[in-house]
Amino acid sequence: MPEWLKEGKVALITGGSSGIGFALARALLQRNMDVILLARRRQLLNKAKEELNEGERVTVISADVSSVDSLMNAAKLITKSHSSIDLLVNCAGIVKPSLLKDLSFEEINNHIQINLIGVINVVKIFQEYIPRGGAILNVSSGIVFFGIAGYTAYNASKTGIMGFFDPLRRELLSRGITVHVVCPWDVDTPQYRKEQEEMPEWMKGSIRPKPMNVDIAVKRIIKGLIRNRYLIRPNFMTKFSSFMQRHLPPVWRFIIDKAVPKP
Ligand SMILES: NC(=O)c1ccc[n+]([C@@H]2O[C@H](COP(=O)([O-])OP(=O)(O)OC[C@H]3O[C@@H](n4cnc5c(N)ncnc54)[C@H](OP(=O)(O)O)[C@@H]3O)[C@@H](O)[C@H]2O)c1
Repeated sequence: MPEWLKEGKVALITGGSSGIGFALARALLQRNMDVILLARRRQLLNKAKEELNEGERVTVISADVSSVDSLMNAAKLITKSHSSIDLLVNCAGIVKPSLLKDLSFEEINNHIQINLIGVINVVKIFQEYIPRGGAILNVSSGIVFFGIAGYTAYNASKTGIMGFFDPLRRELLSRGITVHVVCPWDVDTPQYRKEQEEMPEWMKGSIRPKPMNVDIAVKRIIKGLIRNRYLIRPNFMTKFSSFMQRHLPPVWRFIIDKAVPKP
């Protein structure tokens, strides 16, 4: 059992008010950890706290991961009530499926600012509160092994954090802090459902299997963490695609070119 997963230890979860982050908070509370949920919308945070129904064991903080000032204020508040963060989870993220030509500059910037720079901001600000035996978990995406049309900005942000976490893992080895990256394929969350609604017609009807139940995804993520896996691949699609991309890249490109919708 890792050191951070003990009774009374604290997990800070960005994006903890919804979807994967929220389900992870619930699972960690069941394992007797305390949780801090960080996201922008106060109303959603309060609803999440109410739903978790664990009183003081759940702290909610409204902050924007893409704003350094907002995170600095959050850090001040958090360290007043918590002496350490044993598990730091970067789950906050956005996606807008669209061709690059149809994405506004603001939408492109938001993907990078929230999904990539936001993660770096959070780790830079909160790493000093993580003690030896602590861990950092980051939610990337299985899409990094595919390169599907319609996800240029999203894929760039999620691939970017893969490049951030590998050297970070080495930087933190001597401090006894482990680093993990999870690459989920479709998981049934509010973001997944919104993504399906917003998707242009040509992207629909792809071979994508049904989304994974969020609690099953979280169970597999926690299993990967306990086994100290660096790369956690909770779905078959991610395992298969990462294998193909690594070992048979030309074959994999050919298959995706043929099988995945294009404009
Ligand atoms: N669901 C999937 O199929 C899937 C697959 C692969 C990867 N992922 C990744 O998994 C992570 C969680 O996704 P999800 O499906 O659980 O999404 P979700 O249900 O939409 O939850 C996203 C969370 O991130 C928060 N957030 C967004 N922008 C933020 C910002 N600038 N600052 C702070 N918090 C912010 C949201 O709250 P506010 O909007 O109130 O801030 C919310 O709590 C994302 O990084 C996503 O890219 C999801």
